[in-house]
Amino acid sequence: MKDFGFTGGRPDPHTFPTEGLIAASEKALRKLGGDLVNYPGESGYRGLRELASMRFERREGVPLPIDNISITSGSMQALELVLGTLINPGDTVLTEEYTYGGTLGIMRHFKANIVGVPMDYIDGMNMDALEAKLAELKRQNIRPSFIYTTSNHQNPTGAILSLERRHRMLALAEEYDTRIVEDDCYGDIDFTSTPTPASLFKLDTSNRVIFIATFSKILGAGVRQGYFVAREPYWGQIHQNRWDGGTSALASAIVAEFFMEHLEVHLVKTNAAVGAKCRAVVETLEKHVSDLCTWTRPRGGLFLWIDLPETTDLNKLQELASAKGVGYSNGSAFHYASESVKAIRLAYAYCHVDDIPEGITYLCEAIRAAQVNSVDVAAGD
Ligand SMILES: Cc1ncc(COP(=O)(O)O)c(C=O)c1O
Repeated sequence: MKDFGFTGGRPDPHTFPTEGLIAASEKALRKLGGDLVNYPGESGYRGLRELASMRFERREGVPLPIDNISITSGSMQALELVLGTLINPGDTVLTEEYTYGGTLGIMRHFKANIVGVPMDYIDGMNMDALEAKLAELKRQNIRPSFIYTTSNHQNPTGAILSLERRHRMLALAEEYDTRIVEDDCYGDIDFTSTPTPASLFKLDTSNRVIFIATFSKILGAGVRQGYFVAREPYWGQIHQNRWDGGTSALASAIVAEFFMEHLEVHLVKTNAAVGAKCRAVVETLEKHVSDLCTWTRPRGGLFLWIDLPETTDLNKLQELASAKGVGYSNGSAFHYASESVKAIRLAYAYCHVDDIPEGITYLCEAIRAAQVNSVDVAAGD
C-alpha cells in the first residue's frame, strides 16, 4: 500500500540538496579540521550565526545581532531553553488558540497556565481578544510571563500576523509589561513575492522580543540546526540553563557553507516545489469536498487546515484514512487546551506531487463516509 504522509512539518525531500551538501561538507571539514577537537561553546559556530544574520537581513532589511544569536539543536531546543527560562511553575503564558503541539508540550512540561487567544486563519491572533485577556489577568494580579506567537505561516493554520496586529501586540506587551516569544519557523517558505510583515523582533523597541528560527523547514529536520536571538538580560539567563557544550559545529559549518552560496537558489527551487504541492491539495479538495468542508489557502508554510462538518466521526475518519495509507494530524493536537475540534491539519510538502491527487481523493472519500448522517450527504462529488 502506498503511504500518503501528510503528517509532520517536513520539507520537500525531492529538492533536498544532497550533492550541494556533500560539497559543503568537504569545504567545512577542510576549514575546521582539528578545530573540531574543541567544544563549539554556548553560542555555537560563528559562521552559522553570520549566515542566520544574513538570512534575516535578506527578508527584513536589517541583520540580526550576531553576538545575540545562539545556535541550538533545532528550534525545539531553542524553545526548550527559552521557555524553560521564562516559565516558573504556575506562570501564565498566552498563545494563539491553535498552535504547534511541541510548544504546548514544553509549556505543559514546565507547568505553565496556558491561556489561548482566539485567532483567525488569515491575520492570526485577535488583538481585541488579547487585550481583553491581558486586562482580565491584570484584574487578578497576574502578569503573564510572555505571549508566544508564530508570526509567519502559522502552524497549524497558515495565518500571517498582520502588521497592524504586530504593532498592537508590541504595544500591549509594553502596556502589560510582558514579553513576546516570536517563533519564525516558516517565514522563508513563501509561494508569493509579497513580503511578510516586518518581524516583531525588528519592530521591538523595548527589548521584549525573543526570536526563534530554524533550518529544519527549509532544509531538513535531520540536520537539527536552529537558533534563538535574545538580548540581555535574557541572553545570560537562558545560557545559565544550558549545559550541552553547544550544537555540533560540524553540522553548523556544513549548513553555513551550503547556504552562504545557495540560499536564494535553494529557496526559489524548494518553494516552487512546495507551492505546487499545496495547489494540488487545494485543487483536489475543491473537486471533492467543497460542499462539505472549508479550508485555508496558504500562500506559504507547510500546512493546510481543514474545518470538517460537525457531523464528522473523527475516529471513523482516522480509521478509513489510515486504511488507505493517508496520514494527517488531528486538530485537537494543536488546541491550547487539547479540546476535541472538528478540524485536521495537512502537511503537504513531504508527499510526492504526483501522489497528492490520489491521496487527497482517498481522504475526501473518508471525510464523506465519516459523516454520522452520511446517507444525507452521500450524494454529489
Ligand atoms: C512552530 C514550530 N516551532 C518549532 C518547531 C521545531 O522544529 P525544529 O526543532 O525541527 O527546528 C516546529 C516543528 O514543527 C514548529 O512547527
